[in-house]
Amino acid sequence: MCGIVAYIGPREAYPVLIKGLHRLEYRGYDSAGICLLNDDIRIFKCKGKVSDLEDYVAGKNTSGTIGMAHTRWATHGEPNTINAHPHFSQNRTIALIHNGIIENYMVLRSELKNRGYIFTSETDTEVLVHLIEDIMISEQVAVEDAVRIALNQVIGAYAIVILARDSPDKIIAARKGSPMVLGIGKGEFFVASDATPLIEYTDNVVYLNDEEIAIIERGKDLKIKTIRNQSHTPYIQKLALSLNEIEKGGFEHFMLKEIYEQPRSIFDSMRGRLHIDQGNVTLGGIRDYEQKILNAKRIIITACGTSWHAGLVGEYLIEDLARIPVEVEYSSEFRYRNPVLNEDDVVIAISQSGETADTLAAIDLAKSKGATVLGICNVVGSSIARATHAGVYTHAGPEIGVASTKAFTAQVAVLTLLGLLIAQKKGTIPNSRFQKILLELDSIPAKVERILQLNDKIRDIATIYKDVKNSLYLGRGYNFPVALEGALKLKEISYIHAEGYPAAEMKHGPIALIDEHMPVLFIATRRGIYEKVISNIEEVKARKGKIIAIVTEGDESVKNLADHCIEIPDTEEMLIPLLATIPLQLLSYHIAVMRNCNVDQPRNLAKSVTVE
Ligand code: M6R
Repeated sequence: MCGIVAYIGPREAYPVLIKGLHRLEYRGYDSAGICLLNDDIRIFKCKGKVSDLEDYVAGKNTSGTIGMAHTRWATHGEPNTINAHPHFSQNRTIALIHNGIIENYMVLRSELKNRGYIFTSETDTEVLVHLIEDIMISEQVAVEDAVRIALNQVIGAYAIVILARDSPDKIIAARKGSPMVLGIGKGEFFVASDATPLIEYTDNVVYLNDEEIAIIERGKDLKIKTIRNQSHTPYIQKLALSLNEIEKGGFEHFMLKEIYEQPRSIFDSMRGRLHIDQGNVTLGGIRDYEQKILNAKRIIITACGTSWHAGLVGEYLIEDLARIPVEVEYSSEFRYRNPVLNEDDVVIAISQSGETADTLAAIDLAKSKGATVLGICNVVGSSIARATHAGVYTHAGPEIGVASTKAFTAQVAVLTLLGLLIAQKKGTIPNSRFQKILLELDSIPAKVERILQLNDKIRDIATIYKDVKNSLYLGRGYNFPVALEGALKLKEISYIHAEGYPAAEMKHGPIALIDEHMPVLFIATRRGIYEKVISNIEEVKARKGKIIAIVTEGDESVKNLADHCIEIPDTEEMLIPLLATIPLQLLSYHIAVMRNCNVDQPRNLAKSVTVE
């Protein structure tokens, strides 16, 4: 969480930094701050969003060609101006911004307090800036050496940028556990939490590795050292990201744009991998590990949130197609529960951002036990993509709305390809059936396109239910993860309490909630155990619950029971999540808009959860 951006070069830094902060605002938005450096260090910060910071700064001196800025998602200390970053050192000679958590900040804080340092904020970050200043004074070293020495005392995760009054042409940046990318332009440098703030200036980037420190000086080459003082040669890569991918493109919200991008993003996730002509599937990124997967005694999928829901679809798919046992684990539980893992296991970590702290920790654990760890990530070059042995990118394009939409369907598409690939190679599926699924998968983007045309109807349903307090989402089989995902979408952006359940579990508890005020959303497509789902609908109907149903086009049975039906095209049962999710995303979106919620930046949330 938290977004950081910094600039040094010939341009005025302020506009670059503010624009960069707007791009990074999805990472946190409870306070923002900026630091500019020329003759002196100036810090401007305030509670609220980047636009509040702009209002606050208006009319003040923002000149300077070196600076840094921060948008915060609070961990330690409430979201207010004092806790906002940047933070000054005691003598106000150093300023620092930070994304991450300093776990041993209490110990460091009390040592520094004993040495006379006065803390003004409640943050864990403030210890770092005082510590660096303390080392500079006591050891008489340059700022970059003080940063290095300080980081050896730090336990936790950080991406930090430091400016020092007495080094007006220098930026020091370092990372461990939190993401950081450096942009290298002509005579200018950029630092950011992800590449979005720098794409219009350069496509040459360096992804900083854990425990590396970048020493960025005006007019000089970039230098990288480790916190153990070893020099590293910067590895410059080309950025594959375009400006229009990160803009709203005429849509009112990023979330809506991303929902509408799904025919394209699902197609992109399968492009060059699904070969109708040759009747097969290839996944280049994991080719070297294919044999390991085919021989795996079990597969463990680990992820959080929406990615965990995709993992659940993956479990059903891989077991169904490839007959390998699959377990799906919340990364946050898996990492702490001493799981049985060994060299025969294949662990698949799924993550849109590729930065989720718990998933990264789960990967480290799995690797330490000798398991093969593969990644399914959206963000190219992200920490998870680099921490795994190999992996498959989802290629959904940047997802900026905090609520995950197109990343989910791309993850499910990739998991489907993986299930098919294993099944074909292991011979666990007759070829005729394999080819049928392949053709059907190929037709999914066009079917998603048709579902998007139901937008007006879905908006009308949203009008009826926008003021409810609670809701239930029910599905069975492949539609159970869809129910979970639909409920998560509604609660995270509209703040309506929503529960996802396997439909048959309802009578073991949740049925007690049902009365004439309770909307119950059934995913009741005409495949799998459809008749059983109809019985579950009857049970809700008998208790006067309001029924909204996602059904297969032409369905008559559910139509007679439900208050509202949304018809989606028929497909193979295992591919239904790719279709049934779309109306649920639209429904949540419209309800949230009607409730005046901030759809792209819901309260208390951030896009990348880089703290545990
Ligand atoms: O970047 P990741 O896929 O690892 O993120 C996992 C979750 O934080 C994420 O899916 C979250 O649940 C979304 N807000 C859901 O819309």
